[in-house]
Amino acid sequence: MKNKILSILKNADNYVSGQKLSSELNVSRSAIWKHIKKLKSEGYNIVSVTNRGYRLLDDVDILNANEIADGLNTSFIGQNIVFYDTVGSTNNEAKRNFDSADGTVFAADFQTAGKGRLGRAWQAQKGTAIAMSILLNPEISPADVSKITLVAGLSVCRALSDFGAKIKWPNDIVTDGKKICGILTEMSAEINMVNYVVLGIGINVNDTSFPDELKDKATSLYLTSGKKHSRAKIIRKILEEFEILYGEFLENGLLNIIDEYKKNCVNIGKVSQAVYKDKTIIGTAVDITPDGELVLKTDTETINISTGEVSVRGIYGYV
Ligand code: BTN
Repeated sequence: MKNKILSILKNADNYVSGQKLSSELNVSRSAIWKHIKKLKSEGYNIVSVTNRGYRLLDDVDILNANEIADGLNTSFIGQNIVFYDTVGSTNNEAKRNFDSADGTVFAADFQTAGKGRLGRAWQAQKGTAIAMSILLNPEISPADVSKITLVAGLSVCRALSDFGAKIKWPNDIVTDGKKICGILTEMSAEINMVNYVVLGIGINVNDTSFPDELKDKATSLYLTSGKKHSRAKIIRKILEEFEILYGEFLENGLLNIIDEYKKNCVNIGKVSQAVYKDKTIIGTAVDITPDGELVLKTDTETINISTGEVSVRGIYGYV
């Protein structure tokens, strides 16, 4: 009932009277009022005016499973959503629930122990960021799983194209030369079979500032655009883009994806340093191979760098 009321208010351009809601939904006006009170306590900004009724103001960013699902145009990615107000790490939840349906999305308003690549922590303030993990059951070789990260990177890049988003190889998304999104892919596999893949995506959305140690390399959609954004809407866009590109990847690998990836990759033509274990390689990034490897040309050789335990940074800045 509560969700039906919400949906009517969302689709109305003006006030909706209590009388109209009660006759449309066949419940008493006092029942309507109770549900409205509950929606307000969940954070929805609903104003009520005597003789006019109720109106939902579209100025708050509420994140929950309903908000994500409302209008989501996919056939399996995100058709099952598990939402947490607060959780340790959505990647860990997806791994714990690995037997959930293919494409299940685990999302949270706040993570207390978010994980980044290379064993780093991933932190965001409550109510500002997107933290979500997609559980996948691809029938591919474990060696190809890292390519899904590239596919996810391109999906986020497409979804955030209005913000000028680009990809920093392998899978950071940047705007204004700073990181706005990180992707952490984890998997469980046998020698030649993938049990499951967890694709964790973290995006800085409505952060108004970053601590000193991060502010030169991290930004948010708010800082990039000067406006707050609905996280649910952005999540839907990403899930929709991802379903299209992931389907293409399962059919043809990176064949029809890599050119668009390359076009959006900020590394090409830039001097980068790749740090792998204790070794640092400095060179100009000249290409991305059809398998998604970064080609670095140093003074003496040309090296293909594959994704994995490697960190790549520009030598004059983050990109
Ligand atoms: C990176 O280091 O760039 C990757 C960051 C990935 C963060 C996301 S937030 C949702 C998911 N859950 C986690 O614990 N990590 C990923």
